[in-house]
Amino acid sequence: MSPAPRRVVATAPGKINLSLRVGGADHRGYHALATVFQAVDLLETVEARLPEQPGSLALTIDSRVRGHVPVDSTNLALRAAELLRSETGTQHGAHLHITKQVPIAGGMGGGSADAAAALVALNHLWQTGLSPQELMLLGSRLGADVPFAVLGGTALGTGNGDQLTPAPAPATLTWLLCAPGGHLSTPEVFRVFDELAASSSAPPPVTPQPDHEQLRALATGDVEAIAGTLANELHHAAVHQRPDLQDLLDALRERGALAAIVSGSGPTLAALVHDDEHGHQVSERLRADLGDLDCVVAPSTPHGARIIEAA
Ligand code: C5P
Repeated sequence: MSPAPRRVVATAPGKINLSLRVGGADHRGYHALATVFQAVDLLETVEARLPEQPGSLALTIDSRVRGHVPVDSTNLALRAAELLRSETGTQHGAHLHITKQVPIAGGMGGGSADAAAALVALNHLWQTGLSPQELMLLGSRLGADVPFAVLGGTALGTGNGDQLTPAPAPATLTWLLCAPGGHLSTPEVFRVFDELAASSSAPPPVTPQPDHEQLRALATGDVEAIAGTLANELHHAAVHQRPDLQDLLDALRERGALAAIVSGSGPTLAALVHDDEHGHQVSERLRADLGDLDCVVAPSTPHGARIIEAA
């Protein structure tokens, strides 16, 4: 058996919701969802080291994206560490260092990816021996998107988005992801969704149904058909908060994207493109007309949270 490591590095992907159907809220205010998640190769990296002072927990962050992430006890990676400690009874501590690539408060599950990578890294560093399923279950107590950040690939999420069924999606999709600046608060976008639903004639269903047409399109790998199914029921709520998002979505489509949607609760926009070159073309056209916009091209990835180094 190899000796216990002193340093473990894990990555976890950001996500896009290819479809997001929203139902009513439960007593905690959490909404029933039927969503198709897809992991993208835009990664959060968590390095976990055994600390000099046994048992202490500390966090530092190195961000490649704009915005602020708390390093106090509200940080989701620190909460993941506390939860893993209390569940397993381990006395170990850690120094966590996060390198962020996923837009902050952007609707791509960056904080959830931090928690997922922290769980996977610490489970190895501390030799706590939980299975991926156990880590996903633990993750669901931290946030509805954490189990998917552990699993990765493409998956149907039901319940609050935490009940996952992997979905076959053999084609690698290429995404142009644009962060238009600023943040949107997920609870706030859900609150606006409730307000808009209350004033509409058709209330949201108690249990929203998965988009089976999208799941079939993903299984065949027909990119045009997949493009035709991209849809987000939080769209109106996000655009209500940020009217500029509608113009940017129109601009992405006009400049050649196959389809473009708000990612999760926004404000990051996800545009489906044919390939890397096409993505850069659309991005250049957009920049030429609209000025500076933070866009990256990233493929979908089959990987969830995983260890990339251990020593
Ligand atoms: O689960 P997470 O902490 O990421 O969710 C953030 C907030 O988004 C929740 O506090 C809740 O207001 C809202 N939310 C929701 N329904 C879900 C997931 C999240 O209303 N299924």
